[in-house]
Amino acid sequence: MNVDLDDHLEEARRRIAEAADEAALRAVERAYVDKGGVVAEMLASIPGLPPEDRKAVGVNANRLKTAIQEALEARRSELADAELEARRGARGFDPTVPGTPQRRGSLHPLTQLQRHVEDVFTSMGYLVLDGPEVELDEYNFQKLNIPADHPAREMQDTFWCDRDQHLVLRTHTSPVQIRAMEQLEPPFRTIVPGRVFRNEELDATHSHTFHQVEGLCVAEGVAVGHLVMTLRTALREVLMKDDLDVRLRPGYFPFVEPGFELDVRCPFCADGCRICKHTTWIEFCGCGMVHPNVLRAGGIDPERFSGFAFGFGLDRLAMMWAAIDDVRHFLEADLRFLEQF
Ligand code: PHE
Repeated sequence: MNVDLDDHLEEARRRIAEAADEAALRAVERAYVDKGGVVAEMLASIPGLPPEDRKAVGVNANRLKTAIQEALEARRSELADAELEARRGARGFDPTVPGTPQRRGSLHPLTQLQRHVEDVFTSMGYLVLDGPEVELDEYNFQKLNIPADHPAREMQDTFWCDRDQHLVLRTHTSPVQIRAMEQLEPPFRTIVPGRVFRNEELDATHSHTFHQVEGLCVAEGVAVGHLVMTLRTALREVLMKDDLDVRLRPGYFPFVEPGFELDVRCPFCADGCRICKHTTWIEFCGCGMVHPNVLRAGGIDPERFSGFAFGFGLDRLAMMWAAIDDVRHFLEADLRFLEQF
């Protein structure tokens, strides 16, 4: 009996080893393992055997079956590997090697915040406008009620672009107030996010290049209350704090009358911290009622219409928004900083 088993197994293994494809393996499987195959025949012969032989034949038949199935399995995986190898070779490259991971970028924190601010003001009916960064002196100063010899020009260290001082890198986004008035019929509301430039020494809180958001609303009967309500609502939305309060202090800007500085209640503390310099208020922006001379310069009748305007620093707001302690990070393009957003 054992001789039988060994012979069968040897023969089957030889055929399996020689099998070059699945069809050949199936043939071996049919001959030995399937219905009517060698194993089945051995089992079928048991009832005709002397009782003392029956058990051994049964055991042998099952061993043979298991051994052949294992050999088939092994050869199948060998053939599959060989086929993959052949395909790789044919293509001249290996499609199974893992690819180079793509590094995913992200938007600059100022861009993210700018979009957030735009969303908030857009939802309040504001139009988002743009203006030139290289601006005419006329728009940056004169039409904003800052004549050539006005001392307020000293407030803004200007980068002049030409000898005759007609062109400047805009020192604020306010010139777009004039451009907006020239283009739009009141009533209108608009914000202007943009880059501005001043000739300042770079340090943790000052930069030669920074970002402002100008706001301008012109209609009949616009009053200071509208300005306060608008900025309070917008700031609550932007900083996602329901009860954030604002206050006005008198402030001087030649293009508004009356003019104010608007402070916002420190969103980080209740009774004073480093960020609010222990006052619980943070200076947020300049604002006020648009000066009649400015309305006139924009072609709008100050007898009929009034307006409010504001201008805040996006960099400063971003520092509050994302707890950033140095404005220079915004300009340095250091990935260790940028990757955090
Ligand atoms: N343009 C002013 C600045 O840069 C801010 C401001 C805008 C003030 C609008 C009043 C009204 O400081």
